[in-house]
Amino acid sequence: MNARNLQAMFGLFDADNRVIFSRHMADSIPYLDLPAQLRGIRKELDAAIARTLDNCSFCLGPDVAQFEKDFAKFIGAEHCVGFNSGTSALHVAMRLLGVGPDDEVITTPFTFVATSCAISYVGAKPVYVDIDDATFNLDPKLIERAITPRTKAVLPVHLYGHPFDLDPILAICKKHKLPLVEDAAQAHGAKYKGKTVGAFGDISCFSFYPGKNLGACGEGGALLTNNITLAARARALREHGSTVRYYHDEVGFNYRMEGFQGAVLGVKLKHLEKWTRERRRVARRYTELLVGTPLQLPREAASAESAWHLYVVRHPRRDELKKYLEANGVSCALHYPLPLHLQKAYAHLGHKSGDFPVAEKAARECLSLPIYPELTDA
Ligand SMILES: Cc1ncc(COP(=O)(O)O)c(C=O)c1O
Repeated sequence: MNARNLQAMFGLFDADNRVIFSRHMADSIPYLDLPAQLRGIRKELDAAIARTLDNCSFCLGPDVAQFEKDFAKFIGAEHCVGFNSGTSALHVAMRLLGVGPDDEVITTPFTFVATSCAISYVGAKPVYVDIDDATFNLDPKLIERAITPRTKAVLPVHLYGHPFDLDPILAICKKHKLPLVEDAAQAHGAKYKGKTVGAFGDISCFSFYPGKNLGACGEGGALLTNNITLAARARALREHGSTVRYYHDEVGFNYRMEGFQGAVLGVKLKHLEKWTRERRRVARRYTELLVGTPLQLPREAASAESAWHLYVVRHPRRDELKKYLEANGVSCALHYPLPLHLQKAYAHLGHKSGDFPVAEKAARECLSLPIYPELTDA
């Protein structure tokens, strides 16, 4: 079987960094149908990829620069710096804010692990605060009691594409003079009080992992800010800390975005608003059909317009429900089955079951149903 057929049958990506293999048969619903998305824009993608091949701009280059401008405009931020992943962008965000060994960063235990990894990479400690049961996002009411003299930043996540409650969190950050970093890896185009998320905090970080609402054909990420000094330093840090070739002002990284990814993202960004509308249609349809069932359904807060990266329902017998749906051709996923404070990687923090009960309950009950723009009402 050639790679193309394999892709058609199995090539379905999870929202995070894993490929999940779902049967893609006429009567089954994949969890995410990337081949359908690519079919719709294949000619545009072929042209963009050919252009990159022709001009050999494989590392950064004109298409990355153009995408940075376009994405900054889309978000409403002054500066966008392209990275090779969302994780790299988050790591550099920590460096930009001077977070270092023995510092603390307040964050959520209910997210993809990369949010905490960025804090760990600079030697700092993730200080978890429990989530709000209705939105799965960091609970603003619990933040202040977690602040200590070592707190250096607050790093919440717009989880599943639903904005976290920005106003109270911004007020706490202002009161305690703490920078806010938005982990917007799942929230391209989500809105809070009518304004696109990603320009509220001091810094925001996006992921363009293939399964994201705006996904590269490979890895990609971006760091956005309205602060020109931070943007310039982020550009240097992604290129081994240099602004002049072979002169290095600090120890940086090779975190450059690839030229191919800039070209692909430039094509896809033009379709993002339409795709978000389609995701909203799918979410509305699920809600119409599932309201009145024993499932707890996701709801948008009054202030929020979700980008509906995921449609996550809840039920105490989640595992049985997942088996049942999958036996009937509906692929599902878990985001996330184990909160970060209970992961082996974070055992050194000394947490135990019961420390963040709302996150733990969410992890037991959450079930992500298929959602993507091409999913039909039928
Ligand atoms: C909430 C969150 N933060 C960070 C990341 C890391 O992004 P990337 O996979 O591009 O490194 C992801 C995605 O995987 C994510 O979902």
